[in-house]
Amino acid sequence: MRDLVSERSTRFTESVIRQMTRLCNQHGGVNLAQGFPDFPAPEPIKREAARAVLADVNQYAITWGAKRLRDALVARSKRTSGLDYDPETEITVCCGSTECMASTMLALVNPGEEVIVFEPFYENYGPDAILCGAVPRFVRLREPDWTFDPAELERAFSNRTKAIVINTPNNPTGKVFSRGELALVAALCVKWNALAFTDEIYEHILYDGAGHMRLACLDGMRERTVTIGGASKTYAVTGWRVGWCLASPALTAAIRKVHDFLTVGAPAPLQEAVAAALELPEDYYHRLAEDYRQRRDYLLPALEAAGFRTFVPRGAYYVMTDISGFGYPDDVAFARALVAEGGVAAVPGSSFYSDPVAGRQRLRFHFARRRETLERAVERLQRFRPHRPART
Ligand SMILES: Cc1ncc(COP(=O)(O)O)c(C=O)c1O
Repeated sequence: MRDLVSERSTRFTESVIRQMTRLCNQHGGVNLAQGFPDFPAPEPIKREAARAVLADVNQYAITWGAKRLRDALVARSKRTSGLDYDPETEITVCCGSTECMASTMLALVNPGEEVIVFEPFYENYGPDAILCGAVPRFVRLREPDWTFDPAELERAFSNRTKAIVINTPNNPTGKVFSRGELALVAALCVKWNALAFTDEIYEHILYDGAGHMRLACLDGMRERTVTIGGASKTYAVTGWRVGWCLASPALTAAIRKVHDFLTVGAPAPLQEAVAAALELPEDYYHRLAEDYRQRRDYLLPALEAAGFRTFVPRGAYYVMTDISGFGYPDDVAFARALVAEGGVAAVPGSSFYSDPVAGRQRLRFHFARRRETLERAVERLQRFRPHRPART
């Protein structure tokens, strides 16, 4: 009898983050696991979505993205980073940045080629690499400030390297890559003729004066970088599924073909609404970052008071914590106890590492929540007294 499922589908597990959401729902917990906002999206963009549906923008958009959205992306890229893209040949709008990364890897990486990924990593990159037959090579970001060893990065590059994935601001660590770090990445990409796939979905969520640097701006990188972004986090619309890839015409042509046969296109009326979102005034982005800073500065001391050691994020809306003070042998058991007995869901740290042992004493929380939701979580965390499991 043939196997019912493909071999490649057996080489990765179900998303741990989304599993934690289901467990959280079962236990009526406060979900600080899966990173989506529980507060409303901006009124004008919701009105634009409704207007587009009522105006019957209800059929397929052009596969690589509605013209209005591509034009808005070009204008915003020019405004924020000085990088100019051709809307006709250099933009692909996909179903979220999730599909952008999958389409990019499927379009540009051959089976057996290596893709360098910093770890801890956002959990999608591993399965993306497996789906296209790539071999991931991991380079460690080291606590407490999540820097990497330049020599380790240099050793990861070789003539088998096809690409490197850079996620800045970073999930799960909150690291914001510095210009110097990106310059090193750029020099290695040029030296080894490698591509870079940047996941910049948190580009506007920055703290303490940190600045977002676009790798594509560095010498030699414009032509070899696929810059991936999306509406999900910036406009609190994770369910709309609108993301984008900015890349040279040669890379874009391949990405567009894969995208077309995977999904045809992102939701047409929501592309109109995201075009309107990209036209929001600068003040919107300042407010966004400031609101997240306040959430961060509320949650972190509360976590410390409840017994977690925290690694302060400089961007994105996650905090990695150290749970060794609780005396639990394992992050998965701890996360299950926290949601079942404590009523708060978080993500076991091991799901962000290729070697689960590296994350055994780590737990990730997110803070894309209303103040009252965070207060409810904090109240529960203060009461949480885990039963120590028997050592196995
Ligand atoms: C680093 C990173 N990339 C991509 C995504 C998914 O983005 P999208 O909703 O655009 O698919 C997430 C969501 O949590 C993320 O943290």
